[in-house]
Amino acid sequence: MSIPESIDSSRLPRHIAIIMDGNGRWAKERGEDRVYGHYEGVVSVREIVDACGAIGIGYLTLYAFSAENWNRPKAEVDALMELLVNTIRKEVDDLKKNNVRMHVIGDFESLPEICQKELNEAIEITAGNTGLNLILALSYSSRDEIARAARVLAAKAVEGTIDIKDINDEAIAQNLYTHNFPDPELMIRTSGECRISNFLLYQLAYAELYFTNVHWPDFRKPHLYEALLNYQQRERRFGKTSEQINMTNPTQS
Ligand code: FPP
Repeated sequence: MSIPESIDSSRLPRHIAIIMDGNGRWAKERGEDRVYGHYEGVVSVREIVDACGAIGIGYLTLYAFSAENWNRPKAEVDALMELLVNTIRKEVDDLKKNNVRMHVIGDFESLPEICQKELNEAIEITAGNTGLNLILALSYSSRDEIARAARVLAAKAVEGTIDIKDINDEAIAQNLYTHNFPDPELMIRTSGECRISNFLLYQLAYAELYFTNVHWPDFRKPHLYEALLNYQQRERRFGKTSEQINMTNPTQS
């Protein structure tokens, strides 16, 4: 399926972030265990990664496991970690072939060693790729990420390598996990929940938020295109007036 003509390929977001929600409910609706939903969720991950790569999206961040997800039943956490390891192992050759570069954000050291090993290998194998940057948020907490940045900057201030007046929004951004990536312009959350759940709180400051009732295991290319079309119908003002935006960018009204 090629990208619909109604989507302007010159005005795609550079960075899309997705909260892949609804795996558990999707499985329950089918009388299955929640883990079955996560397995099916991987099929959606594959399709959306392919689609983003094919249409030239630069960065795709997937919220695959939050710091709060450690509080789920042990069997589900273990199944998710195993799924992660098996999926990376199975997909890494295709990621390399398809010019996808993998990154991880989050508390990497808190992941099981086998996950760390598999992820490090995939990061290394795909390091030379120049197409889509696939960023997995794992054991990720945005508040924790901001607190870490504050600690680094405070330590520099104490040792005198940074002046307090230079601790500004850019300095904070430079000390987040995401310092090498542009901020997402579009954040998609599936499964009907309309909240951000401790995901990229700093980086989503100006993102367009798109919520859909579709559960993640059902989320396919047409749903992505729908989100992109909706994104292109928004007016991104960054605090300016509509008139100012239309003067500087007459095609974007
Ligand atoms: C949220 O659904 C989903 C997760 C916590 C895990 C997402 C993981 C995957 C899609 C698979 C692994 C991903 C990669 C990148 C290999 P939920 O369980 O909270 O659903 P619910 O809200 O219906 O309970």
